[in-house]
Amino acid sequence: MLVICVFAVSILTIVAALDNGLALTPPMGWLAWERYRCIVDCETYPNDCVSEQLFRRTADLLVSEGYADVGYEYIIIDDCWLAHERGSDGRLQPDPQRFPSGIKALADYIHSLGLKFGIYEDFGNYTCAGYPGVVGHMKTDAQTFADWEVDYVKLDGCYSEPEDMDTGYPEFGSYLNETGRPMIYSCSWPVYQEFAGIEPNFTALKQYCNLWRNYVDIDDSWEEVEIIMDYFAEKQDSIAEHAGPGHWNDPDMLIIGNYGLSYDQSKVQMAIWAILAAPLLMSTALRDVKPEYKDILQNKAILAINQDELGIQGRRVNNTGLIDIWTRPISPEFDGEYSYAVAFVSRRIDGYPYLKSVTLAEIGLTSACGYEFQDLYSPNTQPQILGPDSVLTVRINPSGVVFYRATIVGAR
Ligand SMILES: *[C@@H]1O[C@H](CO)[C@@H](O)[C@H](O)[C@H]1NC(C)=O
Ligand SMILES: *[C@@H]1O[C@H](CO)[C@@H](O)[C@H](O)[C@H]1NC(C)=O
Ligand SMILES: *[C@@H]1O[C@H](CO)[C@@H](O)[C@H](O)[C@H]1NC(C)=O
Ligand SMILES: *[C@@H]1O[C@H](CO)[C@@H](O)[C@H](O)[C@H]1NC(C)=O
Repeated sequence: MLVICVFAVSILTIVAALDNGLALTPPMGWLAWERYRCIVDCETYPNDCVSEQLFRRTADLLVSEGYADVGYEYIIIDDCWLAHERGSDGRLQPDPQRFPSGIKALADYIHSLGLKFGIYEDFGNYTCAGYPGVVGHMKTDAQTFADWEVDYVKLDGCYSEPEDMDTGYPEFGSYLNETGRPMIYSCSWPVYQEFAGIEPNFTALKQYCNLWRNYVDIDDSWEEVEIIMDYFAEKQDSIAEHAGPGHWNDPDMLIIGNYGLSYDQSKVQMAIWAILAAPLLMSTALRDVKPEYKDILQNKAILAINQDELGIQGRRVNNTGLIDIWTRPISPEFDGEYSYAVAFVSRRIDGYPYLKSVTLAEIGLTSACGYEFQDLYSPNTQPQILGPDSVLTVRINPSGVVFYRATIVGAR
């Protein structure tokens, strides 16, 4: 029996957070690194080298292939765009062969398509690939980015001391702010501290950064996705609470559409990145993404979960029998109870789709209002109405996922 439920206004908690008005939902777009790395040989790899052509072409495809329509917005350069020396005026300059038109022209082109433009630098003597870093030039470099009309800055942390980051990242952020141009500020500060055995200061991170990389760089494999999911689950009690509108934990890029993930594994990455309120930065050759993978990347119901206005990061609530169950509180709320996204991820590889049964109360869905369960990867199946004592049984493919929106009943 389900009771009749009454609407209640949600109360958002106010935290001291970076106040640049940006990234109120997790940023969405495309970032070069995982797929294109530091390919600088444009003769051997004319279509893959880090060059203005790559970013123009990708911006075109973001629009023509429908990604922009569903919310992917930022085109972001990673490492290896720079010349090895600063200009005679002390300013950063791009590699002249690969970016002959200059960065401002590239930004203008991307803006002309209605998109936003991001760039990469490093808080250190060099970028990770050995190009000039911002140390000693922070104010100039922040101004250069503003002059180029950059909308997003990723600041890496190679060739620097992790103990200097608590002051250095805020300092660069203050120069970004002083330019008067709103730029999303993506910090790599916690991952370097994590590996140096320093506990990152999340109070400071959300005060100075819009998003931050917590852990390892993603590579193109299922194993890597598992490592990152496990890290976010094991650390959830110390990191999840710090995510919210304007400030996000970042488990790194989406690798869907590349070589390493099967169709089912791609569905898992998309589902869990939605549960984690993660930035959705694709790193793939948009021209070559097969239709069924594109459908995953453009699944509007899943993107809506990722972009949910409450901005609460989800958690792994159970992982018995190699089945991980993740839930994320989402809107709408009724009577002080949330709706939820619910993902069942199979870590099993033993051959057949595995059956798992739980009652909703066991996974924290306790509202007597009940929930309408919609399978987000099978949108044509009939929704099920379930109460807290109902048993939900799912059949999960090996290294696959079953992903639901559980909308609290009456909330429509
Ligand atoms: C950066 O360069 C300065 C000046 O050469 C040097 O003192 C410092 O040790 C370098 N830092 C790192 C982390 O390499
Ligand atoms: C700079 O910081 C102030 C104070 O937090 C904020 O109100 C303003 O919007 C920021 N401006 C930019 C461009 O980030
Ligand atoms: C963490 O950062 C906050 C805000 O910047 C600061 O007030 C606090 O002292 C820092 N905590 C530690 C342990 O350094
Ligand atoms: C996970 O579910 C199993 C039963 O399926 C239960 O025995 C276990 O206590 C649960 N673990 C957590 C952390 O809720």
